[in-house]
Amino acid sequence: MQAAFYEKVGPAREVLQLGALPEPQPGAGEVRVRIEWSGVNPSDVKSRLGLRSKELPFPRIIPHSDGAGVIDAVGDGVAKVRIGQRVWTWNAAWGRPHGTACESVCLPQAQAVLLPTGVEGAAGACLGIPALTALHAVLMDGGVAGKTVLVAGGAGAVGHYAVQMAGRLGAARVIATVSTPEKAVLAREAGADEVVFYQTEPLAERVLALTGGLGVDRIIELDFAANAEADLKMLRPGGECVVYGSGSPTMQLPFFPLIARNLQLKFFIVYHLAPGDRERAVTTLTRMLERGALQHNIAARLPLAEIAAAHELVESGRAAGNVVLQLPG
Ligand SMILES: NC(=O)c1ccc[n+]([C@@H]2O[C@H](COP(=O)([O-])OP(=O)(O)OC[C@H]3O[C@@H](n4cnc5c(N)ncnc54)[C@H](OP(=O)(O)O)[C@@H]3O)[C@@H](O)[C@H]2O)c1
Repeated sequence: MQAAFYEKVGPAREVLQLGALPEPQPGAGEVRVRIEWSGVNPSDVKSRLGLRSKELPFPRIIPHSDGAGVIDAVGDGVAKVRIGQRVWTWNAAWGRPHGTACESVCLPQAQAVLLPTGVEGAAGACLGIPALTALHAVLMDGGVAGKTVLVAGGAGAVGHYAVQMAGRLGAARVIATVSTPEKAVLAREAGADEVVFYQTEPLAERVLALTGGLGVDRIIELDFAANAEADLKMLRPGGECVVYGSGSPTMQLPFFPLIARNLQLKFFIVYHLAPGDRERAVTTLTRMLERGALQHNIAARLPLAEIAAAHELVESGRAAGNVVLQLPG
């Protein structure tokens, strides 16, 4: 099968290779997915760059956790009826050497979820990380019904889903931060009631003005190091900041605003969702997909052969949305 892979960490063009690798065979409890689309996420870029570890956990890594395709073989213990199902994948490259940047991947069957009819494959390759991250951030700890929610980066891969999902799941009001008028349009089309240009407007002051001085109930935060100071000002007493990313590995926080206003900080990584949380997110996402209730913000579609360009695009932060690769077959 055709595959993209790397055997050492480093810049995309230096380490990513294309070549033929043996086709995998599904083991017990596994399905084999003939991949049609592979999603590229910042996490894949960080692993390939060696930001998590300079040592590769496996001698060769086929990157990317997200993908979509058709099940073409199953291992022992898996119902034959799964053959032919269109599916999307989660955690394909997390703690495993074999992700979706190739023609075939074998996975435990729960990691290949039925893709509802009418959802295109390219969108299926955006679900495992961006959509599940957004949905868990919205659903966790009682959800957002009746709440005012601020989504940082409301035009990004995760943020664009978070804006939509917060609205669908009953948020009273959704405010999104963006950097450009084009991204403001994306966030508004996703359902943001208000947008704030976080780079050129005084963020906390604007959000407080928009909320009559009360602040917001929940912030869904993608760069806590950059935005923490404003976040603590924008939260109402007892409000919560759900953090799924940070541009810096270390940071300092002021203790008194946090404790005096009973603010809550919550962190999570989508790779390690508890089984019950994952099941809730997958079930809710499936319902949304079946109803056609989600827009999928695909910024770039490239062939597998251009994987290095795709990684560079994600790494640059220039893509306003998801970047996906199409497999040759
Ligand atoms: N914890 C998890 O499980 C998890 C899951 C998914 C992603 N993540 C992390 O979350 C981050 C975002 O992922 P993504 O896939 O959504 O990336 P993305 O598609 O590149 O989106 C990031 C968006 O945020 C905006 N942005 C950048 N800095 C910002 C800031 N300081 N304040 C507000 N907006 C800002 C960017 O646009 P402008 O630069 O134009 O503002 C862009 O629209 C990455 O660091 C990723 O590794 C974590």
